[in-house]
Amino acid sequence: MSFARIVATGSALPERVVTNADLEKLVDTSDEWIRSRTGIRERRVAAEGETTGDLAFRAARQALHDAGVKASELDMIVLGTTTPDLIFPATACLIQDWLGANGCAAFDVNAACSGFMYALGIADKFIRAGNAKKVLVVGAETLTRMVDWSERETCVLFGDGAGAVVLEASDEPGVLATCLHADGGYKDLLWNPVGVSAGFKDEKNHGVRINMSGREVFKVAVKTLDSLVGQTLREAGMHEKDVDWLIPHQANLRIIEATAKRLGMSMDRVIVTVDKHANTSSGSVPLALDAAVRSGKVRRGQNLLLEAFGGGFTWASAMVRY
Ligand code: ACO
Repeated sequence: MSFARIVATGSALPERVVTNADLEKLVDTSDEWIRSRTGIRERRVAAEGETTGDLAFRAARQALHDAGVKASELDMIVLGTTTPDLIFPATACLIQDWLGANGCAAFDVNAACSGFMYALGIADKFIRAGNAKKVLVVGAETLTRMVDWSERETCVLFGDGAGAVVLEASDEPGVLATCLHADGGYKDLLWNPVGVSAGFKDEKNHGVRINMSGREVFKVAVKTLDSLVGQTLREAGMHEKDVDWLIPHQANLRIIEATAKRLGMSMDRVIVTVDKHANTSSGSVPLALDAAVRSGKVRRGQNLLLEAFGGGFTWASAMVRY
C-alpha cells in the first residue's frame, strides 16, 4: 500500500508588511481591538502586479528544491485558491509552465479557506490509488485583492501568501487520513457574490468584495472544527494524545484556542502564524506548516493534525505522519 509522504515544504510572502497601526489610518479600528478579537498583529499585502501565481511559483520552487525533485518529474499539480490570476487557464497551469513541468495534470481547487486541505486530500487519493507518484500541492492567495479597504469588519482580517508541499508515493506513512466536507446552505454567511456567470456587480452594485457575518461564521467554525478533529482522529485510528502538533487554519486565534482545548492540547503544541500572516485562506495551513518545519518545531516521524474552515461553508482536515 502506497502512502503519500510530504517530502518537503515551501512558502512565499509578499514583502510589504501592513501593521494594525497602518490600518488605524484607514478605518475606525485599533490595534487593541484587532489583537484581542483575532490575534492578528500584521499581514503581508501583494505589490501591484504581484499575483497569486507569483507567490505559488516561489513557494513551489522552494518545496521542489528542498525535495530534490525536478519539476519534470511531477505527475500532477493541484492548487487551492479562491483568487486565481485569471479566470482561465488555472493558476496551476500557469505555474506548471513557469516551473517547467509541462505535460502533467494541473488544476485549481476552489474551496475558499479549505482549498489547500481539499488539494491535499485529492493528491493523497491519486497517490494511494497508484495513479501518481510525485505531486505538487499548493495553497496560494492574494485575498487582499477582494478586500474593501474602507470596511473595518473585513479589511483587518486578511493577508496574502502561499505555501506548497511535494508529496511522493512511499511505503512509509504518510498522510494517514483526510476528511473533506461542505455545506452550501451556509453560502450567505461568507461569500463574494459576483462572478462570470452571475455578473460582476451584486444587487447593491458592489463589485468584488468579501461579505461576512463574522459572529455567525465564528460560532459555526468552532462547532464544526470540534467535530472535524474528532472524525479525523477516528479515521486515523488515533487518540488526542497521539497528536504532536495541531496546524490549524489561521483565521482567528480564539477559534484556534477552542480547537486546541477540544483536543486537550496546550498552545505550545499548536502552530500559530495568524499574528504575522492574518487569514491567507488557502495559503494559511501550508504557510504555517512550512514555518513549523523551518523553525525545527516539526520533526520527522511526528503526527500533525491539519485543518481548515472557510466559505461554502467548506471544512477539511488531514492527519499526517511527517
Ligand atoms: N475595529 C473596531 N471595531 C470593529 C471592527 C474593527 N475592525 N470590526 C467590527 N467592529 C465592531 C462591530 O461593529 C461591533 O460593534 P457594535 O457592538 O457597536 O455593533 C463590535 O466591533 C463587535 O463586533 P462582533 O462582530 O461581535 O465581534 P467579534 O467578537 O465576533 O469579532 C470577528 C469579529 C473577528 C470577525 C470574529 O467574529 C471572527 O473572527 N469571525 C470568524 C471569521 C472567520 O473565521 N472567517 C473564516 C474564514 S474566512 C474565508 O473563508 C475567506
